[in-house]
Amino acid sequence: MADSLNCDLKSLSPLQLFEKVTEQGEKVRALKAGKAPKDEIDAAVRMLLSLKLSYKTTTGQDYQAGLPPKDLVLINNGTTKEEDEDLVDPWNVQTSNAKGVDYDKLIVRFGSSKIDTDLINRIERATGQKPHHFLRRGIFFSHRDMDQILDAYENKKSFYLYTGRGPSSQAMHVGHLIPFMFTKWLQEVFDVPLVIQLTDDEKYLWKDMTVEKAYEYAKENAKDIIACGFDINKTFIFSDLDYLGTSPGFYKNIVKVQKHVTFNQVKGIFGFTDSDCIGKISFPAIQAAPSFSSSFPQIFNGKENIQCLIPCAIDQDPYFRMTRDVAPRIGQPKPALLHSVFFPALQGAQTKMSASDPNSSIFLTDTPKQIKTKINKHAFSGGRDTIEEHRKYGGNCDVDVSFMYLTFFLEDDDRLEQLKQAYTSGELLTGELKKVLIETMQPLIAAHQERRKQVTDEVVKQFMTPRKLAFEF
Ligand code: TRP
Repeated sequence: MADSLNCDLKSLSPLQLFEKVTEQGEKVRALKAGKAPKDEIDAAVRMLLSLKLSYKTTTGQDYQAGLPPKDLVLINNGTTKEEDEDLVDPWNVQTSNAKGVDYDKLIVRFGSSKIDTDLINRIERATGQKPHHFLRRGIFFSHRDMDQILDAYENKKSFYLYTGRGPSSQAMHVGHLIPFMFTKWLQEVFDVPLVIQLTDDEKYLWKDMTVEKAYEYAKENAKDIIACGFDINKTFIFSDLDYLGTSPGFYKNIVKVQKHVTFNQVKGIFGFTDSDCIGKISFPAIQAAPSFSSSFPQIFNGKENIQCLIPCAIDQDPYFRMTRDVAPRIGQPKPALLHSVFFPALQGAQTKMSASDPNSSIFLTDTPKQIKTKINKHAFSGGRDTIEEHRKYGGNCDVDVSFMYLTFFLEDDDRLEQLKQAYTSGELLTGELKKVLIETMQPLIAAHQERRKQVTDEVVKQFMTPRKLAFEF
């Protein structure tokens, strides 16, 4: 009996094991409370010990009640989040702190690793390029297994990049560009294939939107993504509604993931309830599947084990914690990850920008005048109430949204440092800081609009056609 039990346990994921131990612990407690016969209690206790042992062998961690395995810490189930903790999941970002989410705490809670100076230096050595300012300034701040990607890369083993976007509307804002700007840099310095998933199916399931509309937004958003400058010979963009039906390799990976994740697990990870439609419940498998190279046989020549690296905002991590938990059980490498912070709303860093509130965002379609008005009117200021006070005490860059935006978009490190000092000392006023931001954003958005104009329907079609890319596998 013990043998067959152990054999069954081997096929379980850390999270499933965790749940089994918890269940068994509850059973033991109930038996004891109900004053059950001694041999019955003893048998249940033996089973509990055996489960705990399997848990330890599988995860390398001791079982701790209420503390799920480190690689898959539950969020958004209302029980693990403490009162004063920031709320971060694929649908919500909320904190009471004006400086924004406490990202160091998030690293501990999510069990990821900090992108430290050592790692940044290693990226510089491996690529021979100055690290992107998003790395230097901690905008991409957390990772999973990036060192493995670099080990492989240094040994001339290739990998590929995977990122995505949920096309919720036609209107993209500057915050949406962050992962794409960074992914473009990664593609350039590592020279690897890139796949971009447009989850029009996700938006259809979550929003009040027809499938046709969702697909249309996917193609419109693809134009903004292409305008970031991706290499057409090295990039495949796909709409789920489109590609899923044409790719047996992709669908096979989806059902493999679906078979290895229970309803209970997605409830724990994503907070689904009994009244959520079954489309939502199975969607995480669709976002997981592009992490496996066999989903793209045309690019990888049918090879199954090409390592994947996913740059994304930290709120997408739950999907990939799930993916990494499943990967070894379906014989696939775990995808590595690079996580970015959120892009703050104009009103302040307590929440991220939202495309549904026009005043919270600078849109890629805004005119120079709109940009100027929005920044002047809505960008939360860390300055003082009066000029006299500001000169005397100085402004607070930690909460000042204009300054935060400059850390994202002003590439010149020296200039940024000068502005910081001048603002903090009170020499520079809020209006003057805003002017610098306006003058940074206006040409940046105008250049984007110019590049987007060049992206014709024909170009979109080429990017979205399943095909071999400029790499041999
Ligand atoms: N769910 C993401 C969104 O709503 C889109 C997405 C799909 C994604 N696959 C991804 C984002 C991979 C980052 C990485 O925006």
